[in-house]
Amino acid sequence: MSQDITLAQFRRWLSLFAEQVQEQVDLLTELDAAIGDADHGANMQRGMRKVQERLQDPTATGGDIGSLFRSIAMTLISTVGGAAGPLFGAFFLRAAKDVDGTDAVSLEQLAAMFRSGLEGVQQRGKAQIEEKTMIDALQPAVEALEAAVAEGLDAAAALDRALEAARRGMLHTAELQASKGRASYLGPRSIGHQDPGATSAFYLIQSAAAALGRQAQAEES
Ligand SMILES: Nc1ncnc2c1ncn2[C@@H]1O[C@H](COP(=O)(O)OP(=O)(O)OP(=O)(O)O)[C@@H](O)[C@H]1O
Ligand SMILES: [Mg+2]
Repeated sequence: MSQDITLAQFRRWLSLFAEQVQEQVDLLTELDAAIGDADHGANMQRGMRKVQERLQDPTATGGDIGSLFRSIAMTLISTVGGAAGPLFGAFFLRAAKDVDGTDAVSLEQLAAMFRSGLEGVQQRGKAQIEEKTMIDALQPAVEALEAAVAEGLDAAAALDRALEAARRGMLHTAELQASKGRASYLGPRSIGHQDPGATSAFYLIQSAAAALGRQAQAEES
């Protein structure tokens, strides 16, 4: 089962996501300063530092993908705070339900996990696409991943499709007027600014492509 995506890759994903957030903390703060309350960078940095700490200790994050995701979800909910913490937490909590006791998944299972994660965010935040939230990066990524799986692409190619869809979705938020969260208080003045949560959701998908896609390909060859 050389194509399977392993627990080690999921751990690598979260670690890369944490690194990416640390690197981009100023940008996330700047984006939230324009249409929110300038705390998204600090919120995500605080949470992802804690995630990094927990990843140092494998016993703290469990021996299967479901336990890892639940542990990450709890860390995000309790340390990121704001709107984004519970929403990213909902992503991992919902995605965890498909992979209890599992230490490797197929690409099809990964797509199902991402779909479940998206549903978790939607159920928690009640946002639809085009409301200028993290959904605008996550949903196109999930749809692109599902389409790529249906086409029979390998993990690297499928996750690259998801990455490009997330990037387009993130950039598109600049054209949208916010109707959820703090940014909605600005009404039409929210137009012209990229959404901070869609930006961190893009990093989530970008790090997934790096850890879950490319490494899987390397293992196959
Ligand atoms: N209902 C929602 N559904 C999906 N995403 C949302 C929703 N509300 C806000 N967001 C996302 O959360 C991001 C803001 O996260 P942030 O960490 O700055 O929290 P916050 O809104 O400042 O929270 P608080 O007001 O409690 O401090 C937004 O850019 C948006 O992408
Ligand atoms: Mg904020």
